[in-house]
This record gives sequence, structure tokens and C-alpha cells, in this order.
Amino acid sequence: MESKTSAGIIGTGSYLPEKVLSNLKLEKMVDTSDDWIRSRTGIVERRIADRQTAASDLSIKAAERALEKANIGAEELDLIIVATITPDYFFPATACIVQDKLGAKKAAAFDLLAACSGFVYGISVAEQFIKSNAYKYILVIGVEVLSKIVDWSDRNTCILFGDGAGAAVVAPVEEGKGVLFTRLGADGSGGDLLMLPGGGSRIPCTSSSVENGLHYLRMSGSDIFKFAVKIMGEFTVETLKDCGFEVEDIDLLIPHQANLRIINSAAKRLDLPVEKIWTNIHRFGNMSAASIPVALDEAVSQKRIVPGSLLVLVGFGAGLTWGINVIRW
Ligand code: UT7
Repeated sequence: MESKTSAGIIGTGSYLPEKVLSNLKLEKMVDTSDDWIRSRTGIVERRIADRQTAASDLSIKAAERALEKANIGAEELDLIIVATITPDYFFPATACIVQDKLGAKKAAAFDLLAACSGFVYGISVAEQFIKSNAYKYILVIGVEVLSKIVDWSDRNTCILFGDGAGAAVVAPVEEGKGVLFTRLGADGSGGDLLMLPGGGSRIPCTSSSVENGLHYLRMSGSDIFKFAVKIMGEFTVETLKDCGFEVEDIDLLIPHQANLRIINSAAKRLDLPVEKIWTNIHRFGNMSAASIPVALDEAVSQKRIVPGSLLVLVGFGAGLTWGINVIRW
């Protein structure tokens, strides 16, 4: 039987805006407290992009670092996938802007919308193109500038989010390595639990939609919390079982960084020591599609993932969507 090519990550990069917004500063902006934010979410500070910075600007910086680590030039890329819910524009795709600015002349490019699961979805799409031998080098970026779609007077949401970008180059790797297993899911019936209602073809942007704040992100926090706990626990356990691994086999789990309480409940459900779970929510808040690739780049740089490590990425978020990548580094 013809053996399929394996797809693996051969380089990672990330970029975070310099401006830090601490809980203490937020206390002066809305009716909240450092103590509430830390105890309910685990967040201490987050990064916020400048007024003139858009998703493609953060993406390009993360991408350049990933390409350097992968030791390939932008002109070698076959495809660029940008996972984001905060693109520069509705269209053209942010991926096309990135393609132009990087000089990735032969690359196809498209955006992928799966919210906080976007990077995991992106890796699984890239995996298919590599496995089928259609493409050799694919750049997957997870990027968000959530500060631009957050209502800064709404304490329920504005304390949670941050801006950033992470990137990974996916390419053929030796058999037995790379993405071993992927599973994606969605439940559109929960779409209204986390959404941006205005500005699309359902509620086009008008002065009244803006007056009513429909251009801001809305979230039913406690419902999303329950969904997230379920995904992080049951879905992860079931998927590992289905692909023949035990929880003890995991060297590092990188979950979407939405709330430290969600991560801790997963650790308990999985019976996985907290040292095996990468956490950076205290420094960056929830960066939606960027959370996992930024964490991945940190873990690789700090050598918490080394050749042979079993890495599990788990995302969940708006859509509702969820997904898991099981990767042998
Ligand atoms: O990335 C996509 C996925 N997103 C998520 O996974 C987010 C999931 N949800 C969460 O992380 C949590 O639901 C939140 C952090 C958003 C909220 O935590 P919670 O424990 O579910 O709090 P709550 O919404 O039930 O609110 C508890 C109380 C309320 O006051 P009352 O009604 O009990 O008097 C809120 O008004 O906390 C109040 N509250 C705040 N107080 C101080 C809500 N936000 C704040 C705040 N500061 N920023």
C-alpha cells in the first residue's frame, strides 16, 4: 500500500503587541477589580495593539519568525491560512494581505473562521494538503486584534481578551512524526452564545446598529464556560482513547486559553499534572485563534517540546466549534 506523507510543524513564531494593559489599569476603566479578574479568570494582564495596527501587521511579524525557524523563504510557501475573527477587512482576506507583504508569490491564501478553534482547524486543513502531496510548505497563522471589537464599557467581556499572533509552518516530516490524529467538531445551535451580531449581511452596519452596540462582541459567559469544561474534559479523553493514547502519554497539552478555571478543571478531569499543561493566560488573556499558536511558540522556544514529545492542542469557542490535534514532535 502507498504510504501517505506525514505533516508536521517545522517552525513556529509569535508576536505580541508591546502595550500591556494590566488589571490595575482596567480597574480605572470599568467597575471591576484585580482580585475578581484574577480569581475568576486567572488573567493578570493582556497585550493591546495600537490604534493603527491590524491583524495582518501582527501576522506578518509572527510569520517572519516562523519562516526563519523553519529555515525556508516566503517564496517557497504554497499556501497561507489565516485563522481569525478579527480580519483587517471583511474582504480581501487577511491571508492575501499577508501573502503580498511577505512576498509569498506562489502561495494560495484564505482566511479560516473557527474562532478560538481556528488554529487547530487550520493545522488540520494544512495536514490534508500535505498528506495528499498537493503542497509542501503551508503557513498557518492564528491572529486576533480583539481589542477592536470589544466594548470597553462592558466589564463582562472587556477584561477577558487580548491581542497577538502565532504562526506555524507545516511541511512533510518523517513517518511516525507530525500530526497523528485530528478531530474537529461544531454545534451551530450555540452560535448566539458568542457572536458579533452587527456588520454582516444579517444586520448590516448602520448608524442604528452602531448606536445599539451591535458591532461589539457578545458572550453568554456561563454557558460558554460549561461547554468549554465539557470539551476540555470529555472530548479530550474520548479522542485520546480513540487514537490509542493514554493521558499518561501526553508530554504537553496546550489548551485554548479562555479561563484558568476551565484549564484547571480539565487537568482534574484528565488527571494530568498541571506542569503538563501550558498556561499563559495570566500574561496575555484570551487571544482566541492566537492563544494556542502563541503558547506553542513559547513551549517550543523554552524546549518544553522536543523531538519525540507527544503534544496535544485543544481548541473550543464560538460557532460553537472545537478541535484537537495530536502531534508527535
Ligand atoms: O474563548 C472563547 C471561549 N470563552 C470562554 O470560554 C469564556 C467562558 N466564560 C468565562 O470564562 C466566565 O463565564 C467569565 C469569566 C466570563 C465570567 O465568570 P463567571 O464566574 O461565569 O461569572 P458570572 O458571569 O456568573 O458573574 C458573576 C458575578 C456577576 O455579579 P452578580 O450578578 O452575581 O451580582 C457579574 O455581574 O460577577 C460579576 N462580574 C464582574 N464583577 C467584577 C462580571 N464581570 C465582572 C468583572 N468584575 N469584570
